Amino acid sequence: MKKILLQLAFSFVCISLTQAQTYNNLWIPDTISGTTFNLAIKDTFKQIITPGNQTITGGINNNFWGPTLFFNKGDTVHMNVKNKLNDSTTLHWHGMHLPAVMDGGPHQVIPPGTLWQPYWKVANNAGTYWYHPHLHEMTLEHLTKGIGGFIIVRDPVESALALPRKYGIDDIPLVLTSRRYDASNQFVTLNTAYGDYMLSNGTPSAQVSLPKQYVRLRILNAEVERGYNIGFSDNRTFYIIGNDGGLLNAPVAVTRVKVMVGERLEIMVNLSADLIGSSINLMAYNSGQAFGFPGGEPGTSGQFGSLLNNINFNLLHINVVATTANPITAVPATLANNTYWTSSNATVTRTLNITNGNPGPNPIPFNFDNTSFAIGTINKIVNLNDIEKWTVVNNNVFGHTFHIHDVEFKITERNGSAAAVGTHESGWKDVMYVPKGESVSFVAKFDDYADAIHPFMYHCHFSNHEDDGMMGQFIVTSPAGFNEVKKDVIAFSVFPNPVDDKLFIKLNNTSIEVYYVTITNISGKAVMMLPQPEINKGIDVSSLAKGVYFVQLMDKKTKSITTQKFVKD
Ligand code: C2O
Ligand code: CU
Repeated sequence: MKKILLQLAFSFVCISLTQAQTYNNLWIPDTISGTTFNLAIKDTFKQIITPGNQTITGGINNNFWGPTLFFNKGDTVHMNVKNKLNDSTTLHWHGMHLPAVMDGGPHQVIPPGTLWQPYWKVANNAGTYWYHPHLHEMTLEHLTKGIGGFIIVRDPVESALALPRKYGIDDIPLVLTSRRYDASNQFVTLNTAYGDYMLSNGTPSAQVSLPKQYVRLRILNAEVERGYNIGFSDNRTFYIIGNDGGLLNAPVAVTRVKVMVGERLEIMVNLSADLIGSSINLMAYNSGQAFGFPGGEPGTSGQFGSLLNNINFNLLHINVVATTANPITAVPATLANNTYWTSSNATVTRTLNITNGNPGPNPIPFNFDNTSFAIGTINKIVNLNDIEKWTVVNNNVFGHTFHIHDVEFKITERNGSAAAVGTHESGWKDVMYVPKGESVSFVAKFDDYADAIHPFMYHCHFSNHEDDGMMGQFIVTSPAGFNEVKKDVIAFSVFPNPVDDKLFIKLNNTSIEVYYVTITNISGKAVMMLPQPEINKGIDVSSLAKGVYFVQLMDKKTKSITTQKFVKD
């Protein structure tokens, strides 16, 4: 019976695909700007495919995906992340340079019902970044639900250029993923590396109206594994203006470019010669890729098969409409003046080997140097301000994408050759594709943020590989991090008590630095988590329900925790 139902569902899908192509308007995420960002992560649902049930999804302030956050370089941004899921999760600011305790990696777990309030000074260059869950062993599931969002950073260098930046008009965020559905329209996450149907910004068969002029697409690959070899259906030339960490020094003209999992590419394409009313498709030219290209596996079903494997398919149908006022009419000849690290800058070199991944009846997950992720194990120690060269060696059966937190890096060599680094990946990067049989090197400086306790992650950005342990962690240490640990108790009092609005903390010893404040309710459940709070400003507890709470203060040096009780009125 189940089989018949499945076949029935499958034939419905086939019928709808063979009918004259109809498109759905590309959903453009709404935006939040300023310095305070309220993000509610929630379980929700959305009618993604028809006919049939709505799909159980996850979203941030939305029923799939989340708002695009606009940051200005140099601003201090404050995040109010409320976890309204029934599950713990985390929220990681992918590509942001910030303190490890604000990073939203697997250690910054946000229990259900809890408000997490990280903040940091935006140090990144103008570019396209993103945010997504990062709870160990849950990343694939939470990402597949649709939890994530774009971050767009602005800065004076980018703002001075004549580039398309009318969001949703000539500057389009485009997150590419695919999904597999079960017979009741629910996302399949188990033993599924590839979806069967595209979602562009959560929209199936997406179309967008773009003006007859130069337009900008900010493309993010948020897949589990699949890479996209993108191009336009008439093979026109387009221009890469930025990659993960912002603008390239000069645009790169291409007709095809690969965007692999976790990577971002900003492109400009010229629609000024297109007729109003005409259309063109942004495509994935994924047929004919060598085995090892993620999405190049044979077969249309099963863990590694997919209806989209080894074929060319549509990502976005573009309808050309009238030119806007003040259109952008050219690609600037120069974009930025980045000075990159070279191998000779590096004082420390490391090699990571991609290991295991044996197929077979009891497959061994991939990992690095035969060591799987363990949350209590620090794999690497980096000295603050060191410039390091890391080489990731993949003598393995399959391609992977390597991502490291904290830094933007420069890819310096592929297989030992600087000339083999692609021009499309010539800017600052935080993800790099490591094809099978290749080694790829990057150089990065680990500056600003040392923390002897809280690590940053490096991992394969395939969320199934990451969840299976293809991840490691490093701490950045400074001499200040080696202070003798003495178990002081932080004596403090809280006022007013009872409190209505702002809770103030008075330290008996004002030289103590507060590292973390956690507020728990009477049953011990965390309701607010504030890393490195500016306690002199008071803690806004106005969102808490009336009742008794405990405030726990962690001392930065000794990591000792002290608790006080207060009453919320
Ligand atoms: Cu986009 Cu560690 O992740
Ligand atoms: Cu991998």
